[in-house]
Amino acid sequence: MKCRVCREPAVIDIRRHNANFCAEHFLRHCRDQVQKAIEGHGMLTEGDRVLVAVSGGKDSLALWDLLLDLGYDADGLYIGLGIGEYSDESGRCTRAFAERRGARLVEVDLRTEYGFDIPSGSRAARRAPCSACGLSKRHVFDRAALDGGYDAVATGHNLDDEAAVLLGNVLRWQTEYLGRQQPVLEARPGFPRKVKPLVRLGEREMAAYCVLRGIDYIVEECPMAAGNRHIGYKEALNAIEERSPGSKHAFYFGFLERAADRFTAEAEQDRDELRPCATCGAPTPGEECAFCRLVARATRD
Ligand code: AMP
Ligand code: FES
Ligand code: ZN
Ligand code: ZN
Repeated sequence: MKCRVCREPAVIDIRRHNANFCAEHFLRHCRDQVQKAIEGHGMLTEGDRVLVAVSGGKDSLALWDLLLDLGYDADGLYIGLGIGEYSDESGRCTRAFAERRGARLVEVDLRTEYGFDIPSGSRAARRAPCSACGLSKRHVFDRAALDGGYDAVATGHNLDDEAAVLLGNVLRWQTEYLGRQQPVLEARPGFPRKVKPLVRLGEREMAAYCVLRGIDYIVEECPMAAGNRHIGYKEALNAIEERSPGSKHAFYFGFLERAADRFTAEAEQDRDELRPCATCGAPTPGEECAFCRLVARATRD
């Protein structure tokens, strides 16, 4: 197995590109793919201040590392979700990375800031942990980016994540979600721009990237997510990819090129009907936003 670029021994093969790379050219490949995604989708422009949402996992730490190396002004945002040992360890990995790179890390702890954590709060509010968690993260991303004057929030969603979410949305024809499933969502009142610069890279590539760069990340998945639907979609797509490499890429990028536009009108319409939340001011279709309602239910006795 030889590197496609220099013919030296390769350390990784990427079947969907029909290519093998040595360590040096693999790292370059990752940078090139991120740059291509950023430019191709108009995610960031020079001088943008970026807030990278970092979970302590391989994807978001690799993303932060890549954006810093590409010269972006990128600070990290870590949200303490209070999920026992999993959160302790993910916080440690994130802080260690920030320190090693001399990068600025913004931290928001749900319990300190809002009086609940995901395990007990989701129980009290009678909501599935992952749904309470997703809602909280989105709210905190928006707030932290707007308060800090950032131009964009970047998340570590990779090709495997996006293809799995797309499969889930298509299986149920959730057209309003399909209308929003874009690698870039432009800023609008109350919302910062959201970007996903890793959409051209897969999970396996991100793990290899961290190993080669010596980045210590939390390997365990969140214990509350075990057995959720999303994991089943990933397994199904992996089985398809195994038989025909390139399927995930074709599925996701084919959607962006040929189908995504058809669903945007519906998503736009939802946005036009938003007004400020009575409690926190975030845009919402109702009187009070879903996050403030979650806080109220999660913190009641
Ligand atoms: P997930 O929803 O766990 O699949 O994570 C999706 C993305 O959200 C990650 O790639 C990160 O960019 C971000 N993220 C997840 N957990 C956290 C966290 N605790 N703090 C900050 N960002 C996070
Ligand atoms: Fe949110 Fe697991 S990371 S429930
Ligand atoms: Zn090489
Ligand atoms: Zn609110």
